[in-house]
Amino acid sequence: MRDIIEEVEQRRAEARLGGGQKRIDAQHAKGKLTARERLDVLLDEGSFEEYDMYKTHRCTDFGMEQQVYPGDGVITGWGTINGRPVYVFSQDFTVFGGSLSETHAEKICKIMDLAVQNGAPLIGLNDSGGARIQEGVASLGGYAEVFWRNVQASGVIPQISVIMGPCAGGAVYSPAMTDFIFMVKDTSYMFVTGPDVVKTVTNEIVTAEELGGASTHTKKSSVADGAYDNDVEALIEIRRMFDFLPLSSRETPPELPTADRADRLENALDTLIPDNPNKPYDMREVILRVADEGDFFEIQANHAKNILCGFIRLNGTTVGVVANQPMVLAGCLDIDSSKKAARFVRFCDAFNIPILTLVDVPGFLPGTSQEYGGIIKHGAKLLFAYAEATVPKVTVITRKAYGGAYDVMASKHIRADVNYAWPTAQIAVMGAKGATEILYRSELGDPDKIAQRTADYEDRFANPFVAAQRGFIDEVIMPHSTRRRVVRAFEMLKTKKVTQPLRKHNNIPL
Ligand code: HXC
Repeated sequence: MRDIIEEVEQRRAEARLGGGQKRIDAQHAKGKLTARERLDVLLDEGSFEEYDMYKTHRCTDFGMEQQVYPGDGVITGWGTINGRPVYVFSQDFTVFGGSLSETHAEKICKIMDLAVQNGAPLIGLNDSGGARIQEGVASLGGYAEVFWRNVQASGVIPQISVIMGPCAGGAVYSPAMTDFIFMVKDTSYMFVTGPDVVKTVTNEIVTAEELGGASTHTKKSSVADGAYDNDVEALIEIRRMFDFLPLSSRETPPELPTADRADRLENALDTLIPDNPNKPYDMREVILRVADEGDFFEIQANHAKNILCGFIRLNGTTVGVVANQPMVLAGCLDIDSSKKAARFVRFCDAFNIPILTLVDVPGFLPGTSQEYGGIIKHGAKLLFAYAEATVPKVTVITRKAYGGAYDVMASKHIRADVNYAWPTAQIAVMGAKGATEILYRSELGDPDKIAQRTADYEDRFANPFVAAQRGFIDEVIMPHSTRRRVVRAFEMLKTKKVTQPLRKHNNIPL
């Protein structure tokens, strides 16, 4: 009996060594943790249950039968994060560069199936040279099995990808179909074709970092939702984000008891809006003052900065926030901000996370680059996402809500549940100056007359009361009481139920 137990210990030790000490040292020399060390940081201590530790590949081509590593380059199983279950896979770069074989894919698929069946999120730690070259089509099939499961799981369980090394070729498409992608600066990259192929085909000379590093994907392409300085920071932030998310679409968001009073007043908000309506202020300030303990987990902080998206808690419960940011492009909606916010709104709706919308928007950004880029269709994404969302929606207009952007930003008309406005709100078809220049074009030569017309327009519309008289605004609230009012609104909406028309699925403008 003792012999058998010792043999198990020996087999486990062999599996834990992955591709061997030399390759582990090489991984460390690059500033990266090993696949197992990463799981140690991500999961609660002692919570990891590993499956398929002894699984090996079946390939006999190119001398592969001589190179067999138990576990086949990926560590899979489940554990807990702050006591709540999560399914994980962590690719081991020390075994064939973490490349995906048929059996490696089978291991990932097994835990994906368990995650969906049992209703808990999936977190994938990606560090892989892509399809296992020696296996050919068997590994491509393996990828496609993973892709198919990503789609089946979409909207059922939250799926999070962390890119912690190379991610090339088709390998980028599994992360692309998950809900969030996070990267590690300087050690991770994602591209469909690498720098060598790019040079051959297009003559462009570009480094891997420029082509698909964290900076490229968090600022330019928006493929990634955030980037962190190193493996440890990334994994600790994923733990932080995980605490905001429900386990599945069957559940409501988690509640975290807070000592922050629900009726806390914030007098500083009464003086936040500048007297000059063209002067910006920082909308992040409103979010931080309204949120429990000022805790805001921001998504895509470095892309489309004219809109802020992220998770907060209100009286302990997770709420998704979408807010125009007057500090950037005056808070205009454009292609990038519409896409960013639309995807966030859809995530929240899929997982029963109520949405708080803070509005200060002078309209859609004008210009040929926006029109040629398809702002009509991309702006419609946000409109569509808000209109289809059935989770509780509470909106606060802090200042401008002009034109189509007023409609889009969770207005009453597209079924927001509670619509508040600060006394500083201005709800109109457009700004007073633009409006008078169109309405009184013949008087443009007379500056005094135009100034009077502008003042008249402002008197009429530069306030929330015209909208409030029609019931489009439920109440004009004091800025200092915003937290108390929105907390109470969401409490009231906890029992919201909506019946949906019968259909296969809708057709969002993609
Ligand atoms: C098998 C691989 C591998 C792969 C790396 N290795 N990629 N083995 N299949 N795809 C092995 C190497 O042979 C090496 O083995 C070890 O992993 C580490 O690789 P190095 O090249 O030494 O490391 P590094 O210099 O850090 O470079 C990492 C890399 C490079 C950038 C990922 O290895 C690389 O370019 N690999 C190929 C990437 C690729 O073209 N993949 C296929 C993409 S197409 P030893 O024994 O020396 O440790 C694809 C199609 C999917 O994925 C389609 C789905 C639809």
